[in-house]
Amino acid sequence: MTSEWWRTAAIYQIYPRSFADANGDGMGDLAGITQRLGDLAELGIDAIWLSPFYTSPQKDAGYDVADYCDVDPLFGSLTDFDAMVSEAHARGIRVIVDLVPNHSSDQHVWFQQALAAAPGSAERGRYLFRDGRGADGELAPNNWESVFGGPAWTRITEPDGTPGQWYLHLFDSSQPDFDWTNEEVREEFRRILRFWLDRGVDGFRVDVAHGMIKADGLPDWTPPAEGGSMGGAAGLEEAVVDPAVAQAPYWAQDGVHEIYRDWRALLDTYPGERILAAEAWVDPLPRVAKWVRPDEMHQAFNFAYLETPWQAGALRRVIDDSIDAFAAVGAPSTWVLSNHDVVRHATRLALTEPNPQGHGVGPRTPGLGDPATGLRRARAATALMLALPGSAYLYQGEELGLPEVIELPDDARQDPTWFRTNGERYGRDGCRVPLPWASAAQSYGFGDTDAAWLPQPASWASFAREAQQGVEGSTLSLYQALLAGRRAHGLADGSLEWLDGGADGADVLTFRNGDVTVIANTGATPVALPAGEVLVTSGPLDVASAEMPGDTTVWLRTA
Ligand code: NOJ
Repeated sequence: MTSEWWRTAAIYQIYPRSFADANGDGMGDLAGITQRLGDLAELGIDAIWLSPFYTSPQKDAGYDVADYCDVDPLFGSLTDFDAMVSEAHARGIRVIVDLVPNHSSDQHVWFQQALAAAPGSAERGRYLFRDGRGADGELAPNNWESVFGGPAWTRITEPDGTPGQWYLHLFDSSQPDFDWTNEEVREEFRRILRFWLDRGVDGFRVDVAHGMIKADGLPDWTPPAEGGSMGGAAGLEEAVVDPAVAQAPYWAQDGVHEIYRDWRALLDTYPGERILAAEAWVDPLPRVAKWVRPDEMHQAFNFAYLETPWQAGALRRVIDDSIDAFAAVGAPSTWVLSNHDVVRHATRLALTEPNPQGHGVGPRTPGLGDPATGLRRARAATALMLALPGSAYLYQGEELGLPEVIELPDDARQDPTWFRTNGERYGRDGCRVPLPWASAAQSYGFGDTDAAWLPQPASWASFAREAQQGVEGSTLSLYQALLAGRRAHGLADGSLEWLDGGADGADVLTFRNGDVTVIANTGATPVALPAGEVLVTSGPLDVASAEMPGDTTVWLRTA
């Protein structure tokens, strides 16, 4: 019997370095997660997804893996991992881990062997080494650019000391891309999948799931216009097909799909409905749906939804397009507003200037908008999202209403984007600052010392979990009510019927899902609140005048 739990799951993303620090060294760890699982159970989520905790030099916060089958001492040990999984399972929480197959760390033993071996060797054949162009091979093999800025190729020095071949890295130079046409690479990843499946994980979030296969011959390519750094449609405009994704010879090549069919077949040999979730910055949505055809992955992140502005018409379109595109292949839609790569939605939804994905925001960013408006919109946007049918992803800290940290000192920043663009792009540090758990404690209770790998703002006391727990109207109480209501009313398993008021261009979205009517006012003007019992509201209501203010979402029980 299958429950198909993943069709409706609320999945909470843990960014281990910033979640909870059990040993007080300023870096979150697995033991910290285990200690806090009770808080997550109380929040009402079904599963956690952990960003990488594997052995890594941490050049890209762990997305540069040196050993795929071990835990970095920064985060603990395999024993800590096993304890975390068994405690999560005891609480009915499933565990999804991150898998980073597009590239390894340059400290991975295979890459070190490749550097020591000769051009054309089997060791080099696991990565994408090529001779340079120009008379002496002094020019990169093609003109591709790294997602983090700068060239996507780095030249090595051969073991004999001469300037040598180049290797491809779509991300940082410390993240060499594997050659996925090589069967040895494929077999190694089957081994890695089995290693974690045998340890009891419930699934994998697959990093850069649209990038592993490159077009034959690695042809030159120049993006027609600047796209988002992850390749998504950028800015405050409605999601559109971004040519930087649609045509790039390294994104969304057809060859990736056979890899996922192979993995799906492997996962299906395990009991308990283990899942694959694709991080594929691809558009439009019908193209993303290719990743979740019945014999491929189970879920794909809905970045088109994440990138949609807080505007009723655009939201209605993306919701319809999502449900249609995924239903066409028999998959659930997913919904997401924040993660460790994007500006937190409590800040993003108030931005008044476009800010391309991956650029981040900082003190020099124009159009930062009003934080109170951002938080109001974020709460309303989450209340809308959690009423939609399908599976929803939450990013740690959004349940506290955390904003992006704007004022990080330059010398604290760690995102490779910051370094590779010489500070021109802020990158993603602002959404990765360690969580506040207790207002009055050192590091706000992140650990029991004042250490935190990124500085926490002085203004965060009021965001601490402890300060919000049990407080009516707090963002934490709102998330708890939304997740409980979503479950009690079967919304994730339901279906959506638009009601009057949701017409294109208007500021109000109204739909019914089962016995719940959802009204989202994305405009600034108050609108009439229909009759019915208020189940949840994202913000204060003027009950006397039966109005709901702007930037508010209400769930009503209707007959
Ligand atoms: C996507 C991950 O979410 C991001 O954090 C990382 O930098 C890149 N992939 C490269 O692994």
